[in-house]
Amino acid sequence: MDSPLHTALCDKLGIEYPVVAFTHCKDVAVAVINAGGFSVLGEALHTPDEIAADIKWIRERVGGKPFGIDLVLPSTVPEEKTVEQLLAMIPKGHRDFEQMIKHKYNVPDPKIAPNIHHWGGLDQKRAMDQLNVIFDERVPVFASGLGSPAFLLERAHQLGMQVWGLVGKPKQAKRQLQAGTDVIIAQGYDAAGHTGNIGTFSIVPQIVDAARDSGVPVIAAGGVTTGRHLAAALALGAAGVWTGSLWLTSRESDLNMPLKERLLEAETDDTVYSDCISGYTMRTTRSPWHDEWGSEQAPKPLQPPLQMILSSNYIQGSLDYQRKDLMTEAAGQGIHYVTEMKPARQILSDIVEEALDVFDRFCS
Ligand SMILES: Cc1cc2nc3c(=O)[nH]c(=O)nc-3n(C[C@H](O)[C@H](O)[C@H](O)COP(=O)(O)O)c2cc1C
Repeated sequence: MDSPLHTALCDKLGIEYPVVAFTHCKDVAVAVINAGGFSVLGEALHTPDEIAADIKWIRERVGGKPFGIDLVLPSTVPEEKTVEQLLAMIPKGHRDFEQMIKHKYNVPDPKIAPNIHHWGGLDQKRAMDQLNVIFDERVPVFASGLGSPAFLLERAHQLGMQVWGLVGKPKQAKRQLQAGTDVIIAQGYDAAGHTGNIGTFSIVPQIVDAARDSGVPVIAAGGVTTGRHLAAALALGAAGVWTGSLWLTSRESDLNMPLKERLLEAETDDTVYSDCISGYTMRTTRSPWHDEWGSEQAPKPLQPPLQMILSSNYIQGSLDYQRKDLMTEAAGQGIHYVTEMKPARQILSDIVEEALDVFDRFCS
């Protein structure tokens, strides 16, 4: 009998385990691919040259195995603006509030200007420049978490690429299926980062049902950090899992050590769902920044990309000076189970073994 972990996703990608790692760290991406999983590298904050270099670096280390790149394609940001123009759009009241937080918590100035001041969903022109590298390099899988990839499907398919779309609502999934997306990631409220308000257990089966006739595989995301979650996702009809928080504290991960410690200690209710970081609803670990923006005197967070620009000095300053008391990072509700710093290969084999045990118990 085939392994219960051998799914349509494994066939579509030629991989051994239906586990996708979303990561910003190239070393994690390569380790997961070489251990039999699949990786999608988040490149939203990188310049086109950096993206091209990272693709080359991965290709040199995975021996022809496929991989993915994720970009943010926001339709709600301006078409083209300089950072100076964007900074000038931030109202004085919001600036003053940011300065109040800076003084109250003695937040250090960043050593270097945050990446977000150059890249990362600031405007549509930058996103298109990044996307052109993905096409030039014919990256096997292009994934997008924010915004719809529908407009690029024809070109991607002509180049032999797959396009994956991450959705948080059934109606978004329907739109993507109609457009011809190759894989749908159904992401629930439990997830790290930008996410909608429907729980993983509710969204996944709904999108599996919506995609059934199309034959498009659906992958479950949001709160998946154990083999029990993997087995449950397959039981819900998903063809695999898409995971982010699981890899943040891996040995290969390039996050700084105090932040890894903060994440290893974090409990589910240390993660908060708020628009105070980017202007979109997002799950991140609680910090003084969140407490202040949740207070009565706080102004309403700005629309993207302005809130992201406003929060970026706080975030970068906390990282540059290793201020664990200030740090925040995207993390999902499954962070409770992320308690050890292990190599990525072991993280993958642990969840695979645990999922297989679950299936054994049901089948024996
Ligand atoms: C540190 C971090 C940064 C993330 N950044 C992005 C991003 O740039 N683009 C994206 O599509 N998803 C991003 N995500 C969300 C992941 O793609 C994924 O959907 C999410 O982590 C799944 O939930 P989980 O963390 O509970 O596994 C990020 C997640 C984490 C943990």
